[in-house]
Amino acid sequence: MPTSAVVRKAVVPAAGLGTRFLPATKAIPKEMLPVVDKPAIQYVVEEAVAAGLDDILLVTGRGKRAIEDHFDRARELEEVLAAKGDTAGVDLVRRSAELAAVHYTRQGIPKGLGHAVLCAARHVGNEPFAVLLGDDFIHPGDPLLRRMLDVRAQLGGSVVALMEVGIDQVSLYGCAAIEPADADDVVTVTDLVEKPAPRDAPSNQVVIGRYVCDPAVFGVLRRTPPGRGGEIQLTDALKTLAGMDPAEGGGVHGVLFRGRRFDTGNRVDYLRTIVQFACERPDMAEEFVSWLRKYLDDLG
Ligand code: UTP
Repeated sequence: MPTSAVVRKAVVPAAGLGTRFLPATKAIPKEMLPVVDKPAIQYVVEEAVAAGLDDILLVTGRGKRAIEDHFDRARELEEVLAAKGDTAGVDLVRRSAELAAVHYTRQGIPKGLGHAVLCAARHVGNEPFAVLLGDDFIHPGDPLLRRMLDVRAQLGGSVVALMEVGIDQVSLYGCAAIEPADADDVVTVTDLVEKPAPRDAPSNQVVIGRYVCDPAVFGVLRRTPPGRGGEIQLTDALKTLAGMDPAEGGGVHGVLFRGRRFDTGNRVDYLRTIVQFACERPDMAEEFVSWLRKYLDDLG
């Protein structure tokens, strides 16, 4: 049965081990690393809320308790700030607890992104839902999810976000075979290949970390065997959905994203994100940009 319900829920997988950021991530979840002064995962939750999704499920695991504390009230801290008359501080501390209804489920063993999404099945039920990866940072000024939700409302099925990369980069991503669809920024996805060698890549449009999934994805994930790296891959399930009948929840479209995206799972891109966000922050840009200019001049 095709489902046409409005999307209300977002799933944010945050159970990965974060091995590329060791030793920082030995005791701190990767998702809590700050971009200037806000944890990366808060930007992701804010992005979902800005797109109209007010029910957020975070998929966490061992060692991720700091994430739960972050989206909870911190009474003692609020009281200390209030006693000092720091109302702006109180607002900042409270904001993350009041953003949305945040729920949690645990992925006991990190068996891959597809498996993390499958852990959300009970909470999501038979509704379409969004998936946002904390590693992919979409600039708040370039809304992508809203457009993906519009495409789902119009065309049904599932929707992935695609971005053009150099052919030498395709082996880092899931890569899409595409055909034109009605709108200039929308394509039909006919196939997906996880991390292909450049010569095997069907295009240079790669899947980035925003998805709108038909609930049919859960049935497909249950049947999807471990793929690359021994992990259950979301890309493999989407590939199956791309070949399935729309009457059974199949069909995948892609939104071609041309905005600013940072891969904060990668250390150099993480630093780029922080520098760019600091340069754009009205409260610190003047001081930081002039220091940066001088620093770069001195470097020669
Ligand atoms: P990554 O592939 O970046 O894995 O996952 P990772 O473990 O977080 O990081 P590295 O590669 O070891 O440094 C992409 C997203 O999927 C989540 C991660 O938390 C991240 O947000 N994920 C991945 C899970 O929730 N469960 C998994 O089993 C794998």
